[in-house]
Amino acid sequence: MATHIQAVRGMNDYLPTDTSVWQQIEDTLKQVLASYGYREIRIPIVEKTSLFKRAIGEVTDVVEKEMYTFDSRKGESLTLRPEGTSGCVRAGIQHGLLYNQEQRLWYTGPMFRYERPQKGRYRQFHQIGAEVFGLKGPDVDAELIMLTARWWKALGIADFVRLELNSIGSLKARANYREALVAFLEQHKEMLDKDCKRRMYSNPMRVLDSKNPDVQVLLNYIPQLIDHLDDESREHFQGLCSLLDDAGITYTVNQRLVRGLDYYNRTVFEWVTESLGAHATVCGGGRYDGLVEQLGGCATPAVGFAVGMERLILLVQAVNPAFKAMQIIDAYVIASGQDVQSAAMQLAEKLRNEMPEIKLMTNFGGGHFKKQFIRANKWGARAVLVVGEDEVKSGHVVIKDLHSGDQQTLVQTEAVAALRTLLQ
Ligand code: HAM
Repeated sequence: MATHIQAVRGMNDYLPTDTSVWQQIEDTLKQVLASYGYREIRIPIVEKTSLFKRAIGEVTDVVEKEMYTFDSRKGESLTLRPEGTSGCVRAGIQHGLLYNQEQRLWYTGPMFRYERPQKGRYRQFHQIGAEVFGLKGPDVDAELIMLTARWWKALGIADFVRLELNSIGSLKARANYREALVAFLEQHKEMLDKDCKRRMYSNPMRVLDSKNPDVQVLLNYIPQLIDHLDDESREHFQGLCSLLDDAGITYTVNQRLVRGLDYYNRTVFEWVTESLGAHATVCGGGRYDGLVEQLGGCATPAVGFAVGMERLILLVQAVNPAFKAMQIIDAYVIASGQDVQSAAMQLAEKLRNEMPEIKLMTNFGGGHFKKQFIRANKWGARAVLVVGEDEVKSGHVVIKDLHSGDQQTLVQTEAVAALRTLLQ
């Protein structure tokens, strides 16, 4: 017997029961994005490897060990996108969207990282992200955070996520801090693990989010980034904090929050949760005012975030039981008797013409009356429309409310109004 071919490890199938929940959640997210005037951008899944190396940084986990990189037939190095910001900036520069303009954009789709799969961490995962270009004040950072807070409320998870915030300052401030940090780490080299020693000179900030317990002890004594912040960044951060205070959004300032990608400056933030078993980040983002220029565009301030869809959906399902899979259909059309299938299908088509919003399924393959009702229930229909031989002759239809059990026989032209009332 032939062996079954399984999906690639860490890459999931999403079956119809999953996709109905995904669609419902995505619709909520998109509706909120539109309410803030954000517009969708669609960018390719494959980009040149050099884009991610330059944007994300050579000495990051993503670029060092997590990218799916391969050569094209012509020998050009290409990579499955591990995130959306790099491609968004590339597209913005390429199409002249960024020069002297404001852009509020969003995107969604699959991302790829070769990580060890576990609950909430996959090799193909999905993000929904937003990027704003051309605005440098803290007001837009606050807007992005307010937008995400509105998402959590709409999904019923606001009590289960917590906002962590930090400022990592300007490039220059970070260079000053870096010197102080390296000097400190050199003095305590014996407490560092192999990874941290390697990164001590190439990317010392990454030592700050080491998960190694010994290193974490040392981290309690490291120089603080906040003491090295430049005045403008300090003011920017204070501006953001006061806007969030005014909006009633609570947060904690986490001075060790540096994020895993190199392009950030000033604001960095994460929405974290403890409700998925382990501590998990549902959403991460920040400012990256230098990236557009670094990728060849004109200097353009920018800020954004991305949410991991799988984590978000796991969280919604874990804490908001009211969020059930969508009812698949509103109504089910049953044909009862000989030669009535065509009439039943025609009635269904007429109803779809009149009620484009209706979700209507027609029974196929015949079957006992009772069996057809069981199918109607299986798909979650609220109403059943019965078309039998008598109804076809007289132009009538029987409509049954599956919740109350009430049933009425109507001329077919009255079916639309009756269904509308019933499905309200
Ligand atoms: P990130 O923190 O690398 O940031 O990813 C954002 C979110 O994607 C994470 O908080 C997490 O929810 C989800 N995520 C990341 N890796 C995985 C994985 N292997 N499996 C499941 N979910 C995952 C970025 O990607 C930045 N581009 C965000 C950004 C946009 N910053 C500015 N603009």
